[in-house]
Amino acid sequence: MDKKNIYVTMPTLAPLSDVTKLLEGVWKRGIMTHNGPLVQEFEKKIAEFLHVKNMVAVANGTVAIQMAIRALELKGEIITTPFTFIATVSSIIWEGCTPVFVDIDKETLNIDPEKIEERINKHTVAIMPVHVFGNPCNIESIGAIAAKHNLKVIYDAAHAVGVTYNGKNIFEYGDISATSFHATKMLNTAEGGGCVSVDDELHEKLKRIRFFGFDDNKDVIDDGFNGKMTEVHAAVGLANLAYLQAALDDRKRKYLLYREILSSNSDLQFQKINQDCNYSYFPVIFSSENALLKVEKALNSHGIFPRRYFYPSVNTFNKIVPYFPCCQSEDVSRRILCLPLYYDLTESQVEFIADVVLKTV
Ligand SMILES: Cc1ncc(COP(=O)(O)O)c(C=O)c1O
Repeated sequence: MDKKNIYVTMPTLAPLSDVTKLLEGVWKRGIMTHNGPLVQEFEKKIAEFLHVKNMVAVANGTVAIQMAIRALELKGEIITTPFTFIATVSSIIWEGCTPVFVDIDKETLNIDPEKIEERINKHTVAIMPVHVFGNPCNIESIGAIAAKHNLKVIYDAAHAVGVTYNGKNIFEYGDISATSFHATKMLNTAEGGGCVSVDDELHEKLKRIRFFGFDDNKDVIDDGFNGKMTEVHAAVGLANLAYLQAALDDRKRKYLLYREILSSNSDLQFQKINQDCNYSYFPVIFSSENALLKVEKALNSHGIFPRRYFYPSVNTFNKIVPYFPCCQSEDVSRRILCLPLYYDLTESQVEFIADVVLKTV
């Protein structure tokens, strides 16, 4: 076994020379930002690769969520999941709205559509589900509830690059999907994000919001801010985009290898996949928190650092949200561990990690 530490993830990176070639053009042009040529090319190429109508590339995934809320002019309560990264919920709060938690389905780990309606009231304006670990939400049920109550739907699709659902890219569902190109995501621009809306007007509005609310004549016609992606980040994204298919194929292969080995222990549970997934994470649910802690300690002793993700359940972050009980999310959060999974991880390292898990649990 290699003596280097193994972390839960590492970025998938194109050769540095691919990036520097693109950066030479940036230096020559002297255009660093402001919807420059590389940002536009990145948006065009990613839309082509994912088969989506459009994409607005932005500074990060958190800003993408905030821009989606602002574009839809939401004021009131937004129903969301507690089993997520804090940015889903803090973005709602930063936009002056109130997050309202609905518990998850303990198998898919996504928001449980059956529990949404009981949390809807006259203040509810939208639903913001998360495609957790790239596993698609129950799009039909969420869409039907939103239509019945006249609510907007923003998908936090931070984990969902490369996922399809009923033959369409997952980003094309809901009013807007907000994704992340953070270093740890399937496709990375170091920091970055994107908004997708199939509605042309919303798409144009998102572009204006990204750029202080300016229209083409530099009139301020929207309540905007600075959400721009830089040319340097777009260069990283364009270089990495060429390797995205290889990264997606690689993740799936290693995910299935983990799954095949670990399935021999019936105490271990895995996320139930809804149609498609990009297999960007390998979460394992243990029978108890103690079992998880034992395995974490054993892996750490070999220089292997999995991550408790998402932990703790966001509804328990009482400094920013009032506590509302979400038993499934709180329970799963205590028992879930994401094992290392990334492009440069070898299959023998996967086998070694799985073996430590099986021997310890
Ligand atoms: C579910 C989820 N939503 C939103 C974000 C925020 O994305 P970013 O880090 O690009 O701001 C993340 C980031 O990890 C995430 O996991």
